[in-house]
Amino acid sequence: MNFDFRNWDIHVGKPHPFNAERPRPDNGTKRPDPSRYHDPAVWQAEWDQVFTKTWLLAGVESDIPEQGDWLRFEIGTESFVIVRQEDGGIKAFYNVCPHRGSQIALADFGSANSFVCPFHSWKFDLEGKNVAITDKETFHPDVLCHGTDLTEVRCEATAGLVFISMSDDVMPLAEYLGEVADHLALYDIGEMVVVQHKKSDWAANWKGGVDAFYEIYHLHSVHPQTQAVMDDRTQIDLFPNGMSRQFVPFAQPSPRFPDQESVNEGIRIMLADAGIDPDTFEGTAQDSRAAIQRAKRERSEKFNLGYEKFSDTQLSDSTIYGLFPNIQIGCHPEAVFIHRFLPHPDDPGQFTYETIILFKPEDIPGYKPPAWMGLAEDADTSGLDRPDIVHTGLGVPPELGEVLDQDSELLPVVQKGARSRGFAGPLWSEQEARLRHFHTELDRYLDGEK
Ligand code: FES
Ligand SMILES: [Fe+2]
Repeated sequence: MNFDFRNWDIHVGKPHPFNAERPRPDNGTKRPDPSRYHDPAVWQAEWDQVFTKTWLLAGVESDIPEQGDWLRFEIGTESFVIVRQEDGGIKAFYNVCPHRGSQIALADFGSANSFVCPFHSWKFDLEGKNVAITDKETFHPDVLCHGTDLTEVRCEATAGLVFISMSDDVMPLAEYLGEVADHLALYDIGEMVVVQHKKSDWAANWKGGVDAFYEIYHLHSVHPQTQAVMDDRTQIDLFPNGMSRQFVPFAQPSPRFPDQESVNEGIRIMLADAGIDPDTFEGTAQDSRAAIQRAKRERSEKFNLGYEKFSDTQLSDSTIYGLFPNIQIGCHPEAVFIHRFLPHPDDPGQFTYETIILFKPEDIPGYKPPAWMGLAEDADTSGLDRPDIVHTGLGVPPELGEVLDQDSELLPVVQKGARSRGFAGPLWSEQEARLRHFHTELDRYLDGEK
């Protein structure tokens, strides 16, 4: 059959080189075995062959601006400490003391001239070198010969994001991310500050999380309220190494939505976000998206925001990137929204869903992250106080806003189905092409091709 997704009525914005559709790789039509969602052996293979071999997003540069600033990154069975160096570079270490294995960083963030192990007070400098061993004269020199420094891992930063890899053989980060790194660089994430950071535990496999956030095919059913404010026929681009992109047109109703004219409450909020007074806005819901693009261009000219580098689409819509293996980033000129899917250390049926809102503070009245990100009304957006990470446990409503809470209720239901003898594996549409692209890349690692 001659099938072409582009025959479907995909929403495309005003042509711009940034938005241009990229060539689509052939990821086939195979139905993967659903054991990948629940089998402990698959989870172990993923850990051994994917998470320990690829680049992982460990944190954001703005969390460690000064020498000695550090952050902790925990994933699966591992914990890392990421440290800003004297020369402005960044180093990363396993968060483990070489003496008896105690963790050395016991908080999410900190600032220090050195690290002192809480167990027997061995001390390490910012480069991970051992600088003090308590009662050193009681150690046989041949014991200490085995090594007394922290164990370093690869660490590289790009576009304000800090990545680590447990593999010495991993390709350079720039090659791994490819053109996606250039796209992310447009957003000046390095100048953004964290204004909200949440973690919640969900009863689903980590890939169930990735799958749910890599498509908007489910919006009409799980989040029908979004039909009033966004078009769900979207352009999808697939890049090498499992990376992907999706444009989600905002501020106009889905063609599935019955009322195509009224400026509904959701669109009013989006107009206001762009500095347009919804009460005096004279257009219909068919005009609001273009009006937002114009208003943001005007705001940029007035306040020198440098939006010339963005396409119209980037101003009004959500431009979403998938970074293999476990990251999604929704990009807007004002703010970006990072989703990180953290596998549970032992249970393939659980993951931790982490969300980070990064905002670029500007001295402009009413300037704030897009409303859909769900930033608390009273949140501090000055960037002066880094908010703590709020962590909610399994079964507790994550309070991530209406849309994400709806996902948190549905994912355990999907996870249960994945274990059924009656389920033979997912059948993906072209609207779910990012899922197939992600799983195809995953299989390259699991099959030993990568
Ligand atoms: S375990 Fe760190 S000093 Fe003993
Ligand atoms: Fe969803």
